[in-house]
Amino acid sequence: MAKTIVIDPVTRIEGHGKISIHLDQDGKVADARFHVTEFRGFERFCEGRTFPEMPGITMRICGICPVSHMLASAKACDAIVGVSIPPAAEKLRRLINHAQYVQSHALSFFHLSGPDLLLGMESDPAARNVVGLIQQHPEIARSGIRLRQFGQEIIRMLGSKSVHPPWAVPGGVREPLNAENLNEISRKLPEAFEITEIALDLLKDRYEKFKPETERYGDFPSLYIGLVTPDGGLEHYDGLLRVMDAEGRIIEPGLHTDRYKEIIAEAVETWSYLKFPYYKPAGYENGAGLYRVGPLARLNICDFAGTPRADRELRQFRRLGVGGRPVTSSFHYHYARLIEILFALERIQELIQDPDVTSDHVRSHAGVNRPVGIGIMEAPRGTLIHEYNVDENGIIKKVNLLVATGNNNQAMNKTVRQIAEAYLSGNDISEGLLNRVEHGIRLYDPCLSCSTHAVGQMPLHVQIVDSNGEVVAERFRD
Ligand code: MG
Ligand code: NI
Repeated sequence: MAKTIVIDPVTRIEGHGKISIHLDQDGKVADARFHVTEFRGFERFCEGRTFPEMPGITMRICGICPVSHMLASAKACDAIVGVSIPPAAEKLRRLINHAQYVQSHALSFFHLSGPDLLLGMESDPAARNVVGLIQQHPEIARSGIRLRQFGQEIIRMLGSKSVHPPWAVPGGVREPLNAENLNEISRKLPEAFEITEIALDLLKDRYEKFKPETERYGDFPSLYIGLVTPDGGLEHYDGLLRVMDAEGRIIEPGLHTDRYKEIIAEAVETWSYLKFPYYKPAGYENGAGLYRVGPLARLNICDFAGTPRADRELRQFRRLGVGGRPVTSSFHYHYARLIEILFALERIQELIQDPDVTSDHVRSHAGVNRPVGIGIMEAPRGTLIHEYNVDENGIIKKVNLLVATGNNNQAMNKTVRQIAEAYLSGNDISEGLLNRVEHGIRLYDPCLSCSTHAVGQMPLHVQIVDSNGEVVAERFRD
C-alpha cells in the first residue's frame, strides 16, 4: 500500500507550510510536496490604489524582504512614468540593496542555518537553535548579529522614517546619505569584512564533514535564471535576464526584463497556494522547465563578480562544479550566500567613496506615461518580479508579483524528495529526517510571507500518506 509522510511546520523559515511524503506500494518515496497553505490575496488588494503608493504597500508584504519589494516596486513605477532616474538615485538604491543582502544573508547563514551547520544535523533539537548557538559558539553568534546589524543600520540611515519606509519613489529616492552616515559606514566596514572571512573559513573547514549533505540535499541538474550586467557580471539590482542549462550552456544570454513572460510561465497545483514557475520554452511536464534562482544560480550564470575578493572566492566556488559544469548541489547556497555578502561589502566600500551618494539630485519627476510597468531585481533569495497595469490616472488595474521563493518552488520540492529518498526508513519520521528536510528547505532561504503574500510565522507538520491517501504517520513541531 502506498503511503504519504507529512512534515508540518518547517521551523526557522518565514511563513506557513507543510510537507507530505508520498510512498508507493513498495514503501519507497514516490513524491514529496512542500505545501504552502496560507494566502492573503495581496495582488487583488492593491487594485484601485495609485501607483506611487505601491513601494510603501508592497514592502508590507514581508518583514524580511521589505527593501527588495520597495526596490522592485519603485522600478516598476519608474517604467510607468517612463523616466531614467538620476545617477545618484540609482547608486543609493544599489547601496540600500547591498545592505539588504548583508542583513538577509547574515540572518540566513548565522541564525537560521548556523545551528545545523555548527551544532550538527543530529544534535538535540532543544539546543539546536540560536540560543544553543550562543551558548556553544558565543563569538560566532555575536559576529552574526553584528554583521546583520551593519546591513540594518545602512537601511535605517537611508529610510530613517519608519520600519518600512517608502524611501524609494517613482523616479528615484527621497533622500541621499550625509557625511556623518558615510563616516559611520566606513568605520564599521572592516569588521563586517572580517566576520565574512571568518564565516567563509568556518564553512570551508566543515566541507569534508558535510560531504553526504552536498550529495543529498538538492543535488540535481536544473536550469538557472537570474540577472547579469550587460557584460555578464554579477548583478543584484538591474540588468538582463540570463538562463543557463544544466550543462552550463548559456541558452539565453541577456533578455530585456520587459520580455520576462517569454521565458517564465507559472503552473498551478491544487495542493499549494504557491505557484510553480517554469522555464517556458522547456515546458512544465516532468520538471523539464525546472530552474533555480538565488545565490547559487546567480554565481553559476555570471561570467565574473566584478570585485576583487568576490572574484577570488568565485574561482574557488567554480571548482565545485564537475568538469566545468555549474555547481549543482543546493547545499552550496550557503557558500554562494557568503560570497555575495563579500561582494555587497566591496560594492558598499566603492559606493561610499562616490560623491553622488550625497548629491541632492535624487529624483526625476513625471506623471503617467505608460500603462504597464515591469520592475525586476534580484532579492537575496532570487529573482523578484513586480508588474503593474495602470489607467491614465495612475490607478492600479492589475498587479502581478512573482517572488523569489515561488521561482524556487519546484527545486524545493525536488530537494525534499531527494532527502526523503536518502534518509527515510519505513514510516519513521525520525528527528534526523525532520531536521534534514527542514535544512533542505532552508538552503533556499524561502520567504513564505512573500510567496503567499501573507504575514505569519510557520511551525512544521510532516505526514506520511499511503496510496489510498490515508495518513499513516504524522509529526508536528513548533
Ligand atoms: Mg503572482
Ligand atoms: Ni519576504
